[in-house]
Amino acid sequence: MLAIIGGSGLTQLANLAVTRREVVRTPFGEPSGALTFGRIGCQDVVFLARHGYGHTIPPHSVNYRANLWALAHAAQATGVVSVASVGGIRADLAPRTLAVPHQIIDYTWGRNATFHDNGGTPVVHVDFTEPYDQELRRRLLGAAARAEEMIVDGGVYAATQGPRLETAAEINRLQQDGADMVGMTGMPEASLARELAVPYAAICVVANWAAGRGDSARAISFAALEDALLHAMVRVRRVIEHLCANAA
Ligand code: HPA
Repeated sequence: MLAIIGGSGLTQLANLAVTRREVVRTPFGEPSGALTFGRIGCQDVVFLARHGYGHTIPPHSVNYRANLWALAHAAQATGVVSVASVGGIRADLAPRTLAVPHQIIDYTWGRNATFHDNGGTPVVHVDFTEPYDQELRRRLLGAAARAEEMIVDGGVYAATQGPRLETAAEINRLQQDGADMVGMTGMPEASLARELAVPYAAICVVANWAAGRGDSARAISFAALEDALLHAMVRVRRVIEHLCANAA
């Protein structure tokens, strides 16, 4: 079963034929909402809205551990596709662009970032050299190609704490660090998936130029951001449909 975590702009999957909803409790607390099970094409899918179905949970308060645990254990997900909005830093990552990042830099703090912190058990480290699953990335890129949707292959995702947006100077620093796009939810979601050994990849939707760039030179327009998300999510749904049509 494929899991999809929807972010801002994607609290429901219109193309999901829903079969049931399940409230799951986990040893790590409650997920962002009930798991929504259904089918897209001939693929079984479980969907979870990262910020809750009413979009009420800010990025730093998302219970990433409960979300990943529920998808991996209760739903037996064999892969997780994250849909996440980002600000574009690199020149080719203009608003409305879709991208499948290949690397992450984590600037978040104070989040519950591991399943292995209860003491008394041997310390666990996971390899995270390649934070995204190569095969799932490849499948996403293939689905986009079949859907005839332009998608950028690769990019470094900077995960910031939020919920405020960044200053222009912070974006300059992120760029110097090697970041191409910036979002608030990529971590610890990706590393928790790795701890559970569930393949994880992301489709990022560029909602705005990052602070200080392009038309965000002086301020980020939330109206424009919403508009970009609305348009791009239609394309994300098409990519997901094609991903499910060719389920491996
Ligand atoms: N910064 C951080 N997260 C975001 C942004 C941004 O500019 N746009 C959408 N998510």
